[in-house]
Amino acid sequence: DWTMAGYRDEAIRRIREQVGDGKVICGLSGGVDSSVAAVLIHEAIGAQLTCVFVDHGLLRQGEADEVVTMFRDHYNIPLVHADESELFLGALDGVSDPEVKRKTIGRLFIDVFQKHAAAVGGAEFLAQGTLYPDVIESVSFTGGPSVTIKSHHNVGGLPEKMGLKLVEPLRELFKDEVRALGRELGLPERFIGRHPFPGPGLAIRCPGEITREKLDILRKADAVFIDQIRRHGLYDEIWQAFVAILPVRTVGVMGDGRTYDFACALRAVTSVDGMTADYYPFTHEFLSETATRIVGEVDGINRVTYDITSKPPGTIEWE
Ligand code: XMP
Repeated sequence: DWTMAGYRDEAIRRIREQVGDGKVICGLSGGVDSSVAAVLIHEAIGAQLTCVFVDHGLLRQGEADEVVTMFRDHYNIPLVHADESELFLGALDGVSDPEVKRKTIGRLFIDVFQKHAAAVGGAEFLAQGTLYPDVIESVSFTGGPSVTIKSHHNVGGLPEKMGLKLVEPLRELFKDEVRALGRELGLPERFIGRHPFPGPGLAIRCPGEITREKLDILRKADAVFIDQIRRHGLYDEIWQAFVAILPVRTVGVMGDGRTYDFACALRAVTSVDGMTADYYPFTHEFLSETATRIVGEVDGINRVTYDITSKPPGTIEWE
């Protein structure tokens, strides 16, 4: 009969078998998936693993610090903190098509991983926290029917010239199973409970062209929204919650003056595996308090909307 402890031992055996005495670099995103993958692989092969946390300039407020602290201080797993925000934001300048954003980001991740694979003395393997729903939502990459919903950059189809073999120990798991495995591995509950965060980060929460100005505004608004959710004790009831900054300025009034600032959308959904989702039924009091705080505390936003679309027909992210 099947247990998570059994799964863990089997996964460790398979990682050792695949990797032998080779070196592995693991792309850490700060999310649960890549963290669980990293800790699992570390148990399997110890010092053959180096984690690389790529700051692409599209992270949430405080994210880089949280991840670096957890891995360096709590786990003692070697971690390279690669600040590549100039590279990514430069390449994304003027790009507004969602799939071009994903492909650009995916390509740069590969360049950066290759650089670090060389830097650790020739890693042959790249580890990722790809889950089963990522695999089936990107079917066209795996040679299935040509229906791509979103080209999740962390799935299959990596260019052969990359020259790194993939290690994806979570490929058969759903999110709730990854969390159970994370508990089995002793990850802190605070980390296991984290909402998923997509590899392309804030790029896909900033529909249209990405600018540093919009990213700064988005980070602040997002931090207020998450703070509200935590204060009201709702974080663990929600699968994912975030703000998207809309590519439109609207007119408002503040004090005696007219404002002309960005509108934003709040998104919060419940889900079991991210494949389907329902919007979260906040109370009107919660929504109006949140709107008041965002407009009052975040320069650059003067209008707040709440996205009440389910998936399907919507997707969770805006792009
Ligand atoms: P959607 O927007 O497709 O999202 O309903 C489903 C889940 O997948 C995450 N997501 C991504 N994760 N790369 C990722 O690593 C991506 O390109 C990507 N697009 C969406 C999303 O945050 C949600 O959890």
